[in-house]
Amino acid sequence: MELIVTKDYDELSKEAANILKRDIKKYKKINLGLATGSTPIGCYKELIRLHEEEGLDFSDVVTFNLDEYIGLDSNNKNSYSYFMKENLFNHINIDLENTHIPNGKAKNLKEYCKKYDQKIEDAGGIDIQILGIGTNGHIGFNEPGDRLNINTFIVDLSENTIKDNARFFENPEDVPKKAITMGIGSILKAKKILLLANGKNKYDVIKKLLETETLDSEFPASFLKLHHDVVVIVDKDAYEK
Ligand code: PGA
Repeated sequence: MELIVTKDYDELSKEAANILKRDIKKYKKINLGLATGSTPIGCYKELIRLHEEEGLDFSDVVTFNLDEYIGLDSNNKNSYSYFMKENLFNHINIDLENTHIPNGKAKNLKEYCKKYDQKIEDAGGIDIQILGIGTNGHIGFNEPGDRLNINTFIVDLSENTIKDNARFFENPEDVPKKAITMGIGSILKAKKILLLANGKNKYDVIKKLLETETLDSEFPASFLKLHHDVVVIVDKDAYEK
């Protein structure tokens, strides 16, 4: 794992956006794996700036998001579909046909999950995957437990995640209890992974991730240790007490 420690969230966001910019320019046709949550918002803001001020071109960029709540319409403001439009897609020259977010309202969800992995494979796989990390060590919505799923699947969200995400909802009871998420195997297939974490509330989980030497289904992020190209970008608050 390569570790980059930045002085603050702003620098972290720019660092991540610059890695993406470099590869978007180099390869032009590129498949990005995207994440939601508060962590990547600064990186998306910087990508928008790079598009507006430096003409960074997204016309050949294809995206696949990690996860989506089950039961929310794509125009629900808490859906990840809405989040991606608000925080990135509406502000860059990406073709919405090239953006893929799991459909939490699909009729046959199990079948849909299989098709999502197939769609990623058919596109040639993910070149760079952006990840946040939950305070419980989840990546995507792969929650701690006895077993981890390899492929995209339907997950029961943990109490910890429901509590962490309640801040985005008007009523805590409105947080969906289920989601579709790419599995650990789907994530590890990405050619490169950028894991971002900022703030004091991520200090414990980042320390655990950097120090862990075992694979532990109760700590899903530990499986990132199997990947040969993971860059962990953290701000000082998430790295030092
Ligand atoms: P956050 O979520 O970016 O809102 O902290 C990260 C995650 O749960 O993966």
